[in-house]
Amino acid sequence: MKFLKELLNDYYKSPSTFQASRYWKKYEDKIIEEIKKADLNKLRSGVYSVFATFGFSEYIYSPKVKMPLYLKLLKKIKPSRHIVTHPDLPYSLKLKDIREMAYMNCVNQGKLTNTKSIAKIETSDYGSPIDLFQLEGKNYTMQFFSYYIRLCYFNGVTKLKGDEVIVELGSGSGFQIEILKKIYPDLTILCFDLPYILLLGENYLCNALGNNTIVKSNKTIKWESLDKIEKGKVHMLGNWKFPLLKDYKFDIFWNAASFGEMEPDIVRNYLSYILQSCNIIYLLQARKGKESTSEEGVVTPIKFEDYDSMLQNYKLLDKNDAFQAHRRLSQSGGYFQAVWKLETLK
Ligand SMILES: C[S@@+](CC[C@H](N)C(=O)[O-])C[C@H]1O[C@@H](n2cnc3c(N)ncnc32)[C@H](O)[C@@H]1O
Repeated sequence: MKFLKELLNDYYKSPSTFQASRYWKKYEDKIIEEIKKADLNKLRSGVYSVFATFGFSEYIYSPKVKMPLYLKLLKKIKPSRHIVTHPDLPYSLKLKDIREMAYMNCVNQGKLTNTKSIAKIETSDYGSPIDLFQLEGKNYTMQFFSYYIRLCYFNGVTKLKGDEVIVELGSGSGFQIEILKKIYPDLTILCFDLPYILLLGENYLCNALGNNTIVKSNKTIKWESLDKIEKGKVHMLGNWKFPLLKDYKFDIFWNAASFGEMEPDIVRNYLSYILQSCNIIYLLQARKGKESTSEEGVVTPIKFEDYDSMLQNYKLLDKNDAFQAHRRLSQSGGYFQAVWKLETLK
């Protein structure tokens, strides 16, 4: 992570609209400190819990529900005693059953939306994923299934051809890009993110897809235009480089669980560089906005209706509840996913 310092220097110098807002400020220093000492080979092992904020959250049991307080106390009093730490599941379910059901859901969603089968791809095992398991001879995690399900939703609304240019803002771990590139190797992708997240996503994608597929942030940091974009590659760019997109025509803009963690003026600023330049917009966000109190979370939650009105000249093609492979993606009012299409190219 030697390059972090250079990226941070550039980022701190950029206008305030590109700085993390209140929701993310809370994590910024913690993530930067953790990166400095982290063993990236253990990125997905669960030992760095702050990395879960942007996708490296591959727990099987959430640490929060692991053990009721009385059991914790009992364990303290009698440390050697065997204590069942997880509640029983209904209908005699076992972990294996949930994984198989999620897998079958992916197989079926793939068939319904004419997406290359989940059975033909597998997750990278880089970063020691705590949730790694095998089915039909391939490596999977529940996260891998869930990002596959997002792609199936997209393909059910408007099918990818495979050679498009996709811009993702807030790509986090890079798990969505891993799926996209494993299914469509010819896609050209531009990922924009906060500097410290960008480097972790870059590290993951270099390992998951191979160094040759990735144009790293130590190259793009010097870019003053997008002339050097390489067809078929994944480009890692700092979020403050977003203005380079002005007047750049591309196919799809993708933002998942990211706009909702910003403030409305920041979202409007990002959109101002891409509206009318891209044909399709995919959003997955909290339906009623992210949590907000007088001290924490976002200051002004952004609701579905707000996004819809920001996307002027775009027609809503479809809107649905967002799902992971094994459950509804639900938190304070649930998440939607939706696709808009540009009505008239100017
Ligand atoms: C919850 S994570 C979601 C990551 C990924 N899209 C996914 O679905 O797993 C939120 C993402 O938004 C990014 N983000 C938050 N505030 C941002 C800002 N002001 N500018 C750019 N990216 C931001 C974070 O760095 C992170 O990658």
